Amino acid sequence: MNYCMIEENGASGQKQVNCIDAGSENCPCYLAITGDCLICSRLQGKDYCNCNWRGVCIYNEFIQGNRKVNNPRRDFEANIIHRKLYKEDLVVYILDVGKGFAMKASQPGSYLFVKGSGASSFYDIPISVMMTDVEKDRIHLAIKIISTKTKALLMENEKMVLRGPYRNGVHGISAMLSKRGRNQKTLIIAKGIGIAPGILAAQTFRNKGSVDLLVDTDKISKALIEDYLEDGAIQYVSLAEKDFGEKLESLLIKNQYDNVVLLVSDYYIEHLGEKIKKILPAAALAVSNNFKICCGEGLCGSCSLDTSRGDTIKMCKCQLTGAELLDHVLYANTSV
Ligand SMILES: Cc1cc2nc3c(=O)[nH]c(=O)nc-3n(C[C@H](O)[C@H](O)[C@H](O)COP(=O)(O)OP(=O)(O)OC[C@H]3O[C@@H](n4cnc5c(N)ncnc54)[C@H](O)[C@@H]3O)c2cc1C
Ligand code: FES
Repeated sequence: MNYCMIEENGASGQKQVNCIDAGSENCPCYLAITGDCLICSRLQGKDYCNCNWRGVCIYNEFIQGNRKVNNPRRDFEANIIHRKLYKEDLVVYILDVGKGFAMKASQPGSYLFVKGSGASSFYDIPISVMMTDVEKDRIHLAIKIISTKTKALLMENEKMVLRGPYRNGVHGISAMLSKRGRNQKTLIIAKGIGIAPGILAAQTFRNKGSVDLLVDTDKISKALIEDYLEDGAIQYVSLAEKDFGEKLESLLIKNQYDNVVLLVSDYYIEHLGEKIKKILPAAALAVSNNFKICCGEGLCGSCSLDTSRGDTIKMCKCQLTGAELLDHVLYANTSV
């Protein structure tokens, strides 16, 4: 499993950025064709190989595959099986996507591009996979209605157009998933619609040990949580409350979590993330990818981050750890 570490590579000074899609069924991608692969020095136009990638050789795959994008993600129509309105601005769609797609979308951090049937690509929006039901070939999506694109989706009753799955919805999740052991203690903190990726993460991390959830239902609905999560391990909280910091501190000290997943706005990632790193420095930290994501393929540039070295990295492809995101992106203001 790969995760992103931004570093210079020895003598060559070549930029090394790991990629969420490297070695997956979607690799090599569009970036390989134009000589912009994030991993492979040969596919960056160099005449030598000096990558740190330990998986299948991306260059070899590209040449053997006739210099084409492997398995490009394409739009497809999915039937809406059920639509439930929890509030006038909060809706859950259950979609029939086929077994293979439902299985692929089960990985925590997965998200899809979603638009109405017949809508132009301007309406595409990233939406997290909230739950998968592989036996029934279904996925569940929760959508908070805000403005044009989400309002347009709310009008859909029969079909939606999907593209995906994309994997980089949560920074730090790859490192966390690659940890071995069945007795891991995981804490998930989610606010608002952050609970959607939180439900999928809880589904997976329950198989690796215990999961506690701190949920702030601000702008969403308790009924949705009750429909998707078992009561036992959930505590309802308000992150804005004065004493929340103290509550969290004592929970972290008492339970000594191995993993903490923060699915909140950047404001809370900064404030809570620093506390978590201080109290549990050995714990793996994962945080929501709150960048503006429009293509998910490293092409359009809407998620670009300019580094202090003058490089541009695309946050839809590059998977940071939670700690890297905090140290190099949020606090240091792009001095990666
Ligand atoms: C990886 C990821 C997963 C997401 N998962 C969900 C989800 O499960 N459920 C859900 O309701 N929402 C989710 N979102 C947010 C959702 O994409 C936006 O709320 C939606 O695009 C808003 O569109 P709009 O036209 O209704 O509102 P707008 O007025 O266009 O935007 C409202 C807010 O959403 C932000 N936004 C708009 N477009 C994007 C974009 N392309 N990428 C990121 N933020 C954007 C705006 O900056 C603004 O803060 C996710 C976003 C990302 C990046
Ligand atoms: S979303 Fe288009 S480059 Fe990242």
